[in-house]
Amino acid sequence: MSAIYNFCAGPAMLPAAVMKKAQQELLDWNGLGVSVMEVSHRGKEFIALTKQAEADLRELMHIPQNYHVLFMHGGGRGQFSAVVNNFLGNQGRALYLVSGQWSSAALAEAQKLVGDAQIDSLNIVEKHNGLNAVVLPELHKIDADYRYVHYCPNETVDGIEIFDELDSPWPIVADLSSTIMSREIDVSCYGLIYAGAQKNIGPSGLSIVIVRDDMLKLPSLPQSSIMDYRLAVEHDSMFNTPPTFAWYLAAEVFAWLKSIGGVASIAKINQQKAQMLYACIDANPFYKNGVVAANRSQMNVTFQLADESLDGAFLKEAEAAGLVALKGHRIVGGMRASLYNAMPLEGVAALVTFMNEFAAKHYKM
Ligand SMILES: Cc1ncc(COP(=O)(O)O)c(C=O)c1O
Repeated sequence: MSAIYNFCAGPAMLPAAVMKKAQQELLDWNGLGVSVMEVSHRGKEFIALTKQAEADLRELMHIPQNYHVLFMHGGGRGQFSAVVNNFLGNQGRALYLVSGQWSSAALAEAQKLVGDAQIDSLNIVEKHNGLNAVVLPELHKIDADYRYVHYCPNETVDGIEIFDELDSPWPIVADLSSTIMSREIDVSCYGLIYAGAQKNIGPSGLSIVIVRDDMLKLPSLPQSSIMDYRLAVEHDSMFNTPPTFAWYLAAEVFAWLKSIGGVASIAKINQQKAQMLYACIDANPFYKNGVVAANRSQMNVTFQLADESLDGAFLKEAEAAGLVALKGHRIVGGMRASLYNAMPLEGVAALVTFMNEFAAKHYKM
């Protein structure tokens, strides 16, 4: 079979080297004669795996010692409610910054659960010459006492990324599902970071939580034990049986990323991939991206064709060329190419060649 490049937004492609290793040791992990899926999560081999995974993630993201690293159930959305239940208590107040579909979804979940507490929200996207632009609010000027401010630095659906760290007087809670480990960030700026695994980490269902120690002192609401951060810390993310295979694959992805030079090194490649694709879009009147340069997502490149009636042909011909899962999210339409860490430069080069050829064939100026 010739190479397939998978641009799916998630579950997304995983590094080929990791998938091969997982395949090789699927039936016999660590010389135990059984699969990693079949061993106790409390056995010494699996515990060693979890320790290594945490150490590798700490090294990759330079996570300070006053932060806990949790491996939890429930993906990204699971954390939408966990954040509210763990930090808001009965009378707390929180601020949600809205920049697209996922931050809106987090806000909606918070509003559903809030009870007597209070959720405020601020839309931070404006149109600048017809393009979406993020305008960060001056949080220091807001007269309120928030437990936390929630935002989503990379909007997977809308293709909007916020590269600047927020300047906030309150703890920042960030949904990094689609940008975690794609570029360097300063973890110490955050009260809590969470990410669904299915983009830059591993299989769906797992979520990674990085939480600062003092956040755990905030009053919480009664909640399901498996989503309780304090219990997760106390039990080393094993209050109940964790998603062991997903944890194993995440550990392999961390090891792979370290082996190729870590986040600083993949960040350079990610920048190159995104630049190549945006340059193709900008050079071709047949394609259009609706986001200002400063907020164009590096991980999720959205674009529209000048003639929407060619969307079907574009997707069909792309698939025939081995370029799959380019259809935009159903809410926004158009196309989306997700360029997570596992996507090689060659995949983007192949996409650019295809896009140039498709435009030349179908678009008459
Ligand atoms: C930024 C972001 N947040 C949250 C989610 C929801 O993740 P899950 O489907 O694992 O609940 C997604 C899923 O794509 C996402 O991209």
